[in-house]
Amino acid sequence: MCGIVGYVGARDARDVVVAGLKRLEYRGYDSAGVALAAEDRIEWRKRAGKIANLEAAVAEQPLPEAGTAIGHTRWATHGPPTDANSHPHVAGRIAVVHNGIIENHGALKARFDVDFASDTDSEVAAHLLRREVEAGSTLVDAMRAVVADLQGAFTLVALDAEDPDRIVAARRSSPLVVGRGEDEFFIASDVAAFIEYTRDAIELGEDQIVEVTSAGIEVTDFDGAPAETRDFRIDWDLAAAEKQGYDWFMRKEIFEQPKAVADTLLGRRGERGELQLDELHIRPEELRRVSKIIIVACGTAFYAGLVAKYAIEHWVRVACEVELASEFRYRDPIVDANTLVVAVSQSGETADTLMAIRHAREQGARVIAICNTNGATIPRESDAVIYTHAGPEIGVASTKGFTTQLVACYLLGLYLAQVRGMKYGDEIEAILTELERMPGYMSDMLEKADDVYGLAERLKDRESMLFLGRHVGYPSALEGALKLKELAYIHAEGFAAGELKHGPIALVTDGIPIFVVVPPAGRDQLRDKVIANIAEVHARGARTIVLAEERDAEARENAEAFFALPNVSTLLQPLVAIIPLQLFACEMATLLGYDVDQPRNLAKSVTVE
Ligand code: F6R
Repeated sequence: MCGIVGYVGARDARDVVVAGLKRLEYRGYDSAGVALAAEDRIEWRKRAGKIANLEAAVAEQPLPEAGTAIGHTRWATHGPPTDANSHPHVAGRIAVVHNGIIENHGALKARFDVDFASDTDSEVAAHLLRREVEAGSTLVDAMRAVVADLQGAFTLVALDAEDPDRIVAARRSSPLVVGRGEDEFFIASDVAAFIEYTRDAIELGEDQIVEVTSAGIEVTDFDGAPAETRDFRIDWDLAAAEKQGYDWFMRKEIFEQPKAVADTLLGRRGERGELQLDELHIRPEELRRVSKIIIVACGTAFYAGLVAKYAIEHWVRVACEVELASEFRYRDPIVDANTLVVAVSQSGETADTLMAIRHAREQGARVIAICNTNGATIPRESDAVIYTHAGPEIGVASTKGFTTQLVACYLLGLYLAQVRGMKYGDEIEAILTELERMPGYMSDMLEKADDVYGLAERLKDRESMLFLGRHVGYPSALEGALKLKELAYIHAEGFAAGELKHGPIALVTDGIPIFVVVPPAGRDQLRDKVIANIAEVHARGARTIVLAEERDAEARENAEAFFALPNVSTLLQPLVAIIPLQLFACEMATLLGYDVDQPRNLAKSVTVE
């Protein structure tokens, strides 16, 4: 949510910042802007709409050359997406870009007798900094004084026209990383912004300020004391952040899933083939004491958590709740030192999930993060982390994020079962071996993409669609519906098939498409009931799209379209069942002419509550 870029070095900072903004556009695409210092004054361009509009503005009225610049791509919170509300905000010699929400902006604005140029909560930060530097402070001292007054979450990056080769940034509960080149530095909300220049990065901690010049960086805490940072090497390269011939990042990421899942599984076995989770720095004794597991997550990650509940309860025999992170801390949850909280987040920056884990830790719980982003806030604030190693997910709709979260959840469940003696080594081995076969099965599913695209073509005039599933097929149905609504803007609902007769069946009208995920044949009872559901909705005129095992002849009987799933264990079925649903949503949105990677009103990484 909002992308920030800053550069100091020998390159043309205008180009570096605009290129960086393009790579961060997935974080927000309501407006974009860039500022630099030239001849003792701030020069800036900003425009509502996508970065292409900013580029047009810069082409029309070029910016002077500079070695230092800051930029911003916005997801609007305070004030509509207009030119005036775009960042940077400028006050005299100061330019500022901001990600987050300054909650006390009203009170802060009241301190000034000026006409604010925007409706944003951010602009006041530029005025506060201006007042400090005009009173004689250096930019870094000014930043320190200003952040002491701010309430809320923020990354602030500032530039002072009278000190044009330096940028100063502060972060609280909002992402910021530094890229280290040779005599040049980058700052950004996400490493994607500078991956084409360097893979060496520095993770900043909470409540830290970084001062950047081409000579080096200095990191202090909000009180001015030297602060610790962590260096890391980005484990993917520029190619991973490019579309590589695909029309959309989302489609590319769907097709990357076999590799992403294989990468999540990589290096998880010890010398004797046993499951090991090296990153999990929680002592086995502690994991044995756990009496309750609570998974907290949002959106797609929440659905991955719902699948995990089935696996964990079945394998570990410990009660596992799954809770929307946004609800968790506001309902006074029962959490104690024997509670294990698992935070699932692709970005590792989702504000709701972050607040949930902070609350859990305050209550004494141990927290494990499942995350795809090295050094993000959620893993940093957790006791342990399992990284999914899926590579950058740039399409706003999560795809490989989801399947790799599933795999990490399965691994965690199996590990807990191993540590707690709930499963024999050979049982764990059998499941691990099956997991290792999943990339192959996923590739087989992807080979059926053309059939899915044909189906999308046939259904593209439909205004409403339903998704049904049972057991782990239920979260798969929810995820299929979410993908369709967020990308194709089609009304879509996912239901537990068993709930059909308790209300949703009233939505079944002649011709409504209904996707049904059928459990594997080994689950006789469950499967039979879902087959009966297909007959029921078919009898009422629904067009049924059935996802079931290839060998399941009965499931085909009332199916207008049939997608054959490989013969896998019930618990692992979401890894393959989700693929046609992802492809369908991607294709439907494409056919309807929508921007698949940047769906309306959405942004990747929701860093505000
Ligand atoms: C939907 C989607 C979102 C995210 C949710 C959580 O396609 O991407 O629902 O899953 O915002 O994001 P993370 O996993 O980054 O915490």
